[in-house]
This record gives sequence, structure tokens and C-alpha cells, in this order.
Amino acid sequence: MNAIEIKNLTKNFGEKQALKGLDMTVPVGAIYGFIGENGSGKSTTEKILCGLIPYNGGDVKLFGKPLTDVNIRANIGVLIESPGCFPSLSVWNNLMIQAANLGITNAADEVRKVLKLVRMEGAAGNKYKNCSLGMKQRIGIAMALLGDPALLVLDEPINGLDADGMRIMREVLTDLAQNHGCTVLVSSHILGELEKIATHYGIVRGGRMIKEMTAEELNASCRTFVALQTKNQENTKFVLRNRYARVEEDEQGYLRVYEAKNPEEVVTYLYEKGILVHEIKTAKIGLEEYYIDLMKEKGAR
Ligand SMILES: Nc1ncnc2c1ncn2[C@@H]1O[C@H](COP(=O)(O)OP(=O)(O)OP(=O)(O)O)[C@@H](O)[C@H]1O
Ligand SMILES: [Mg+2]
Repeated sequence: MNAIEIKNLTKNFGEKQALKGLDMTVPVGAIYGFIGENGSGKSTTEKILCGLIPYNGGDVKLFGKPLTDVNIRANIGVLIESPGCFPSLSVWNNLMIQAANLGITNAADEVRKVLKLVRMEGAAGNKYKNCSLGMKQRIGIAMALLGDPALLVLDEPINGLDADGMRIMREVLTDLAQNHGCTVLVSSHILGELEKIATHYGIVRGGRMIKEMTAEELNASCRTFVALQTKNQENTKFVLRNRYARVEEDEQGYLRVYEAKNPEEVVTYLYEKGILVHEIKTAKIGLEEYYIDLMKEKGAR
């Protein structure tokens, strides 16, 4: 079954057409990385899914049921922008208030449970305003988790987090998906980070889904290459191009050889031409480069 199934979704803000027939399929249990440039329609889609704004046309189903089904709404936890918390109240009290709003009966147990899920047990007594950005983001996820939702919708939850904050977030989201049966829809511009957790991807552009794929499909479609450094990169590039059709210098100053069978072959070839290799490795194109290539391929909007 699919947690989310969207067909031909349209949304206008006055004259502005934000969604132009967007399709999206998110299987149950997925961590779905939702990607696209600024203004492409990610937050708009997420807000529609959570019932925060109406839409103009198309079909939206959550767990096989139409979005209008009232029972479905209770199944979604949301973090879009920052959580609506009272700054001077403790983390615990903020969550207790939210639990009361949702009509949760065993509130204290629930709050304890969600704090544990986001690794915040130790900070329950802290005032919200004194929490770090990373903690606030996790409090937002704890809020979204109240009521035991089957689907979590998170809009850029890792923005602005430091390496440790990102690691914790990564562990929390993976744990939720793998061990608590939660489907996670997460939008982010930090592709290298998203790539570490996502099982599925959706790439939007100009209000349309231009590519959906699984992490395995991404992996299979990403080419490997040999990357190397020598004393004279310009000369080496020239020599390599006599043999390999595609040789490029990357941002880290490595020469990338795309058609080489293995590093040994390249080292031997260059040695025969009197060029010594300082450093050589094989690597794979990641999500970020795949995304940039795809955007180039699709051209300007
Ligand atoms: N309330 C609104 N009123 C008018 N236009 C809006 C409104 N909300 C969004 N838009 C427009 O809809 C389009 C999609 O916006 P959206 O916020 O969904 O993009 P996004 O993919 O989330 O971008 P970002 O990566 O910057 O968060 C943009 O052109 C935006 O200006
Ligand atoms: Mg957005």
C-alpha cells in the first residue's frame, strides 16, 4: 500500500500556479526525500497533504483514503516551519499542552514516549526558549509524533543543524521508519545528508514531479569514475583525453575519468606517458551530482 498517492495536483495562489499537475507516490515505510529548487512546490504540497491549505484540482489519497476522510488527518504528524511552542514554558509542558489539544488521555506516558523517541528525555525540564536549534527541531518532531501518526511530514527539519544535530536527526528518522512503522516525508536542500537516510526520492520542478525513484535505482543509475591528482593537472587532462572521451576536473581539484575500467589501467597508461600519479581513487556520483545533471538536462523552465 502507498502512504501517499497524489495525481495531477494543482494549486493556485491568485495568479501564481504553484502546483501544475503534480504526481507523487510514497510507499508505506519509506523515508521519502522530497527535493527541488526554491519555489518548486515542496512546502505547498506538504501543506495540502496536512490539510493546512486547500487545493484546486487533482486527487490526493493517504493510505488509500481520500484526504477528506476525517480519520486520516489524525494519522499525520507535521513539522512545517518551527513548532508552535510557548517560549517560557518547559519542553515537557509544551508537549503536555499539545497532548491535551489532541485529546490524548494518557498524556504523561505519551509525552515521555515521544521525548524518548527524539532523544530528549534529559531536556524535558528546559525552557523551550533556552533550547538549541537542533533541540527545537527535535521538539517539533516530538510534537508531530504525539498521537502516534503513521505518516510524518517534515519540511526541512535538518536546516541549520550542526554535524551532531544532523547525526541525531538521521538516527531518529531512521529509527522511526525502521522500528516504529512510520512513513516519513522529508524535504531538504541538504542532499548529501538526505542521501544517508532516504529510501525513495521525488524531485520536483516548477510545480511538477520530474523524477521519482528508489535509493537502489539512484545507486544503479549513478556511474562510477576514477579520480586522480598529478603534479600538472592541465597536461594530464590533455594526455588522458587522447584515450578517454570524458575527463573533467571537479571542485576538489581531482581529474575524473569516467570510462576507465579501474585505477590500475589509468596509472599504467599515465606512467607510460611519463606522468606520475600522486593520488587515485574510485568514486560514485552521488545524489547531489545526479540532481544537478538532471536539472541541466531538463533545461530552464
Ligand atoms: N501563500 C502564498 N501566496 C502566494 N504564493 C505562494 C504562497 N505560498 C507559496 N507561494 C508560491 O508558490 C510557489 C511554491 O512555493 P513553495 O513554498 O511550495 O516552494 P518550496 O519548494 O517549498 O521552496 P523552498 O525550497 O524555498 O522552501 C512559489 O512560487 C511561491 O512563491
Ligand atoms: Mg519550502
